[in-house]
Amino acid sequence: FTKHKIFTCNNFYLPEFVAKSLEKFKQFQVRQDDIWIVSFPKSGTTWVQELVYLIENECDFKKATQDSIENRSPFFDYPSPGLKHIENIKTKRIIKTHLPYCFLPDEVEKKAKVIYIVRNPKDVTVSYYHFTNLSTQAQFTGNFYDFTKLFIEGKVPYGPWWSHVNDYLAKKDVHLINYEDLHTRPFEVIKELSKYLGKNLSDDQIKSIIDWCSFDNMKKNPAVNYEWYKELGLYKKNGHFFRKGKIGDWLNHFAVDDSQKIDDIVEKKLQKKLDFNYGICNEDLN
Ligand code: A3P
Repeated sequence: FTKHKIFTCNNFYLPEFVAKSLEKFKQFQVRQDDIWIVSFPKSGTTWVQELVYLIENECDFKKATQDSIENRSPFFDYPSPGLKHIENIKTKRIIKTHLPYCFLPDEVEKKAKVIYIVRNPKDVTVSYYHFTNLSTQAQFTGNFYDFTKLFIEGKVPYGPWWSHVNDYLAKKDVHLINYEDLHTRPFEVIKELSKYLGKNLSDDQIKSIIDWCSFDNMKKNPAVNYEWYKELGLYKKNGHFFRKGKIGDWLNHFAVDDSQKIDDIVEKKLQKKLDFNYGICNEDLN
């Protein structure tokens, strides 16, 4: 599936580089002022990373272009930049992770601010499938139907999706962001997020953040669009990290019976009811 073997730990499927570091993750020292951005892969993490950075830095757009998003909010689970590097960050930390809740460092929820992003699982499947084709680190050779089957069985890296989501939904101090809400009512979502982070932004500031973080603007922003991964050989040349950024692209991909299977997962396995805006999709799909 990936160049790194997949292991099962606590019934989660984890890439090798994650599975072998679980003990170190647990022992990582959390700080009171840390902000943790957590998600199942392909749920809109990058979007929220940029929002949080701008809220925290009170719309300092210039500063946001001076360093890449992965330096401004490092990926906890990945070997690069690594835990030592993150430990040594002197300023307030914004940390991204895809770890299931049970593998987070002790005291994260008690000490730090934790933001969890959730997205319609059908769009997650589509986005994840395309991502495995973009990444040179993935070695998945099947087609979309094969990938969906694995997703439904919970056997994609960081899966099962429903266990990942359930474990965070159960935590009362975790701030939940729904990808679809961010599309359909960005102003309110960003206002609530700012409040959670203890920042009081003006309406104009919120509007400027919405504009800065639109899909089109982020796609052409070289500090966030991951086009540099192509030079590093991590992404293939013929695709983009910023792929479509829509609600409802699953309609272009899913077979009816697989769609029903995911509806059943949402209905029966999710412990809370979430509104994924199944009925709404952005115009100009395809
Ligand atoms: P698609 O593949 O459906 O386009 P993550 O950051 O968790 O890896 O999620 C990536 C997904 O979020 C991709 O979905 C990407 O296009 C989408 N995304 C990133 N930034 C976005 C934005 N500003 N607006 C809408 N979608 C965005």
